[in-house]
Amino acid sequence: MNKLVFLLLLSVSIINGQEGADCSDDSSICDFDPSTFLKCVEGKCKCEDDLVWTTDNCTIPFGKPCEQETGPRCNSESFHTCADGQCACKDEEWKYDSKSDKCSLKEGAICEEDEPCYSNSKCEMEDSEEEGVCRCLGNFPPNKNRECLYDHGAQCDPGNNLCNSENRLISQCDPGNNLCNSENRLICNSATLRCECNAETKYDEVAKECRKPLDAECKDDVECSTLTVCSTDGKCDCAGTLVRGAAGNCVIEYEKQCGLDEHIGACDQEGNQICKGNKCVCIQDETMTYDQYLKSCYVPKGKRCYSNTNCHPDFTCDTKTNTCECGKDFIDEDDECKITFGKACREEGKIGQCSFSHNLVCGSTSNKCECKEKYVGIQRDSFTVCLGNYSASCTVPLNCNLDRSLTCNLSTKKCGCFYPNDQEYVEEEGACKSLVEGYCDLVESDSETKPRFISCGANMECVKTATGNSNECRCRQGFLELGRTCNTGNSNIAGLAFLLISGILVLIR
Ligand SMILES: *[C@@H]1O[C@H](CO)[C@@H](O)[C@H](O)[C@H]1NC(C)=O
Ligand SMILES: *[C@@H]1O[C@H](CO)[C@@H](O)[C@H](O)[C@H]1NC(C)=O
Ligand SMILES: *[C@@H]1O[C@H](CO)[C@@H](O)[C@H](O)[C@H]1NC(C)=O
Repeated sequence: MNKLVFLLLLSVSIINGQEGADCSDDSSICDFDPSTFLKCVEGKCKCEDDLVWTTDNCTIPFGKPCEQETGPRCNSESFHTCADGQCACKDEEWKYDSKSDKCSLKEGAICEEDEPCYSNSKCEMEDSEEEGVCRCLGNFPPNKNRECLYDHGAQCDPGNNLCNSENRLISQCDPGNNLCNSENRLICNSATLRCECNAETKYDEVAKECRKPLDAECKDDVECSTLTVCSTDGKCDCAGTLVRGAAGNCVIEYEKQCGLDEHIGACDQEGNQICKGNKCVCIQDETMTYDQYLKSCYVPKGKRCYSNTNCHPDFTCDTKTNTCECGKDFIDEDDECKITFGKACREEGKIGQCSFSHNLVCGSTSNKCECKEKYVGIQRDSFTVCLGNYSASCTVPLNCNLDRSLTCNLSTKKCGCFYPNDQEYVEEEGACKSLVEGYCDLVESDSETKPRFISCGANMECVKTATGNSNECRCRQGFLELGRTCNTGNSNIAGLAFLLISGILVLIR
């Protein structure tokens, strides 16, 4: 029933001289008015060539060639006009919208009631006037191209194209979106539905658009963020005399001139600096010192601080004393905070240095504090200390591993035996062992400055001396002394001789 009504209406609407009219009996019904540019094709009225049907004429599509005087016309219903030999918008006040195929007036253009304003704007008429002005809907300003498009952070719809393309704010969520081009850096985040910068860029509050950060590849200065330029090697770099500050942004260098008109940029706020007397200085001029390596001003150890950011990174602002003190992973050493075993360090500079007293060095591949060469890490309570093996270089006795009977030989500056005259280094054990008649321990001591336990060399035992006042090493039963060591060889030869003799005796029998 509905279908029948529809067909009836359709047949009524297609009258002679209209596109689609039946011309199978009489082809002249199409072209009785030549200005329509219709012709009869396979029994139906159709537009000539590439023309398109518009209400009651065939018209030239937008952008295609036209002639001012003769031939088919441009689509005036959609506000197209023949200009410079092709169908175009009337003038600069107009902009073509491919979605609606209409020319619409730009923001700020004078409009008449029936004239369309471009997307997201409308013709605002004064009550008494015939004409009005195209104005953006809502409260946002137009962009440079006089379009009413959403700016950074504005609520947007992934299906529309209303993010400001001029600021590289645009929705890429809609593949059919004609404003999405390869230069776009702003995307409509489909989760937040806000216009956001794409992954390559960051919103630049000064430029008010998405710009590339330092070190990003670039072709042109306008791609790079404020205070940076596209350098000759094709990367965004600090402009002019600006340098990288504590936070890695471009700033005026410490102690350089600032605050004068010809100087761009500012002092490094992140690096605790301000512009005072036309010079970049530390915020707390009297207490802070400038660290060349970190490019930042800091309150030194023991001086007054207000927050952790005032102190060197290795220090914390003690909440009780309000002074900069070593944090929990640090060792207080020479008024500096030194880093403990296994923690991140830096090879250069004053900050982030490994503890010297703990025999640590900054590992060049690990970038963590490691034991010095020939030193081994030994767990002590809450931290690890590194102690020297035999022949490790040393400066103080406690550098060397006492538990291996080692101490620092202060003349050679190498870890050697604790009792050089009564001990010998045993390679396989990595420790010094007492020789015959040398001192040895029967029980472990709790000394901090002497070995806890001094043991004897191979094949020896520790016994009380004749006087009973001390202990010394002696060869075990069956081992013979040779140059203060106990030789197993002698007893083996004795055993072999015994076997030989018994063998001979057996043969004789
Ligand atoms: C169709 O053509 C006639 C005659 O040239 C013209 O007056 C009229 O405005 C045209 N209509 C459209 C929609 O272009
Ligand atoms: C230091 O080493 C030298 C050379 O090996 C040695 O003669 C000397 O006895 C050692 N001194 C001490 C105190 O260990
Ligand atoms: C220290 O000595 C021990 C025992 O001889 C050995 O196993 C270890 O590899 C040595 N470490 C270093 C770093 O020399």
